[in-house]
Amino acid sequence: ADDTRTVLTKRSRTTSESVRTKPFPIRGERAINDVSVPHVIAMVGLPARGKTFISKKLSRYLNWIGISTRVFNLGEYRRHATSAYKSHEFFRSDNEEAMTIRNKCAQQALDDACQWLLSESGGSVAVFDATNSTVERRELIHDIVVKHHKFKLFFIESICDDPKIVAQNIKEVKVSSPDYVNMNTDLVLTDFLKRIEHYEERYQTLDEYQEKYLSFIKIYNTGTKVVVFNNEGHLQARIVYYLMNIHITPRTIYLTRHGESEHNLKGLIGGDSSLSNRGRLFAKSLSNYINEEKIDGLRVWTSWMKRAIQTVEDIDAPQERWKALNEIDAGTCEEMKYTEIKVKYPEEFKARDENKFSYRYPRGESYEDLVARLEPVIMELERQENVLVVSHQAVIRCLMAYFLDKSAEELPYLEVPLHTVIKLTPVAYGCICTHIAIPISAVNTHRPKPSTAGEVGVDHGVIVSSEEEYFEESRESFENITINGGTK
Ligand code: ATP
Ligand code: F6P
Repeated sequence: ADDTRTVLTKRSRTTSESVRTKPFPIRGERAINDVSVPHVIAMVGLPARGKTFISKKLSRYLNWIGISTRVFNLGEYRRHATSAYKSHEFFRSDNEEAMTIRNKCAQQALDDACQWLLSESGGSVAVFDATNSTVERRELIHDIVVKHHKFKLFFIESICDDPKIVAQNIKEVKVSSPDYVNMNTDLVLTDFLKRIEHYEERYQTLDEYQEKYLSFIKIYNTGTKVVVFNNEGHLQARIVYYLMNIHITPRTIYLTRHGESEHNLKGLIGGDSSLSNRGRLFAKSLSNYINEEKIDGLRVWTSWMKRAIQTVEDIDAPQERWKALNEIDAGTCEEMKYTEIKVKYPEEFKARDENKFSYRYPRGESYEDLVARLEPVIMELERQENVLVVSHQAVIRCLMAYFLDKSAEELPYLEVPLHTVIKLTPVAYGCICTHIAIPISAVNTHRPKPSTAGEVGVDHGVIVSSEEEYFEESRESFENITINGGTK
């Protein structure tokens, strides 16, 4: 696989104007065919139809699977080019002055998107998040993206004629928009509905006869119906599949590691040991916590490893086992201590520190492999409502990176302490993340990024200078909340 990657990175691509010599930022071989040609994904739809929601979510997913993606939001360009927003009048189609500004901003955002795709530090997919609600505008986009730059172009249209969803969307995200600072909810709703009316006057839905040269997906009423037209390859098929799986029904995802295991106590990585005494106490406390919450329709997913299955024994909810949730396979290093690996395989130990995300254990896996293995889990999680996932340190890091939009560099160092439930609640464009510490002590298995590759640091629960002494976190129950995603 590495050879294939090297060959690919040597390939350069000619556009009508520029030659991009830099390798595309492809993380794994999975992405190779997807992004041999850069893509512009252009959103279409009236205001408050979830275009930004879809753009951000799709971008998070594509980045997670290793396809470098960035959103170019026209609203931000417009706010930058104008003084404070006054009212819906700005969006009237007969407001020529405003229309000139809006067209200029659209042109600028699209140019920036294309330049980013061409640049040395650029990526593979640019999402152009705007209403793009006329045939004329889409023709312009096609001319620039396809005819001029020879990139691929895919439109995503969100159509929603349910006034309740539209009003709910306005309340959820527009009231907190920078356009409406210090304005009360009712005034925002009235102004925003007028803004939508101005767009409706000129709105043309994507048309497979008039615009037969375009590729697109149309999503009706949050996915109750989907139409795909002129699908142009693997990346677009993947995007379609992803968009068909997501939903906006409120729900919570609970992530936790198994209780402390016998191997955790000994500082050994991997293996399939049972829970320690404290691990069993955690299992009891976790079950009490989850059972008392009476979570509607909860499903419990675990790996196939003993310590994960033992952790959920007393939870009163349907359970499923996923091999894909098994811990990272450390190959020839399974059931060793970090200190032992350093002595026996110093080169391997150093190589892992130098690039922990891509490093693959001999006869084992890398974090990059894990992400590929977990993609079906993410897809199924997107389809589900309330789910508790009980898995392992490296696996939970990968799942958290998806939900919290963490980079490949940050991912392998995310802190996932034992005996802690991580509660993820989707809101607006991101997630509220709450850490709930269950008050039962456990060893600390986190090995922070060393300042010099190859340093051992903390060897599992063991402080390296005195191998006999376990480093126990003193535990009190607490909740720690962070909000990820933000507003427009
Ligand atoms: P604008 O054109 O003003 O920028 P927008 O179309 O980008 O609006 P968003 O800001 O993305 O709209 O709206 C976010 C809301 O849309 C969220 O509350 C989300 O739950 C909801 N949403 C997500 N997907 C859809 C969909 N397919 N149809 C309708 N609403 C959706
Ligand atoms: O130590 C517990 C554990 O789950 C091991 O089984 C696994 O190899 C390790 O954590 C993953 O963490 P890291 O990638 O930081 O070594």
